Amino acid sequence: VLHLAHADALAHYLTRHGPGCVLVPTMGALHAGHAALIRHAANLARDTAAPGGCVVTIFVNPTQFNDPADLARYPRTLDADLQLCEHAGAAAAFSPSVDEVYPRGTAANPPASLPQAATTPGLEDAHRPGHFAGVVQVVARLFELTRPAQAVFGEKDWQQLRVIDQMSARLPSRVRIVPSPTVREPSGLAMSSRNVFLSPPQREQAQALSRALSAAAQQPTVARAEATLRDTLAHAAITPEYAVVRDAATLLPLPPQTPRGSVPARALIAARVGAVRLIDNAPWA
Ligand code: PAF
Repeated sequence: VLHLAHADALAHYLTRHGPGCVLVPTMGALHAGHAALIRHAANLARDTAAPGGCVVTIFVNPTQFNDPADLARYPRTLDADLQLCEHAGAAAAFSPSVDEVYPRGTAANPPASLPQAATTPGLEDAHRPGHFAGVVQVVARLFELTRPAQAVFGEKDWQQLRVIDQMSARLPSRVRIVPSPTVREPSGLAMSSRNVFLSPPQREQAQALSRALSAAAQQPTVARAEATLRDTLAHAAITPEYAVVRDAATLLPLPPQTPRGSVPARALIAARVGAVRLIDNAPWA
């Protein structure tokens, strides 16, 4: 994989190949879930003969962390990340500095207005104030720097995926947003860079999130599904920040008696296990 450590190396790469790559934005600390995103993007790049192939960005974006402690301890593993990019089929990996991404400072150019999915659902938007403003800010900037035709995002961050889809629909040069399914450990635990902070007993406790989602998927109504989410988590001594079933596109609440299968819906959970905040979601259909 070609390592583009600076913005001028990326600019040179784009001059050589032209715009239109398939982008995978990441914050590094890459794991098997990212490898699946990169393979997906590399296949798309091959099938569409995308100029520049699959390009991965590795950038821990300070503006999306509402908790400074979370930013400070976020794992940074560049050498291993580059190897994973290589094995998964990326053509280039771009790892800019904060100054290159934000040449006028991190507070300059905040997004003028945020898409609906970033402000109204009362999920991540309510529990991580400022988070989506940072995500929208950095993704818009990464699109500007890398000029992709398509960008692949994981379904694990379902609300982020909806926010970015709505954001990109408003951009002058539209980027096609491609969702990629969540990769799970054999236990069901969704892959996440933050899983490294779970102790063995906490890993076991954390499996309740995916168990709750599977159990809810059997329930006939929104009300019953939400009760099942809460009960399964309570059984594992987990008090969630939210455990809900929502409209899959807008993430707004559905009437409690809505029957399963009548509208595209998604079950979503956020919960702390020890000091680690985990999120997971699955179709409710
Ligand atoms: O999902 C992530 O890793 C980040 O939110 C993203 C999209 C790379 C923006 O920093």
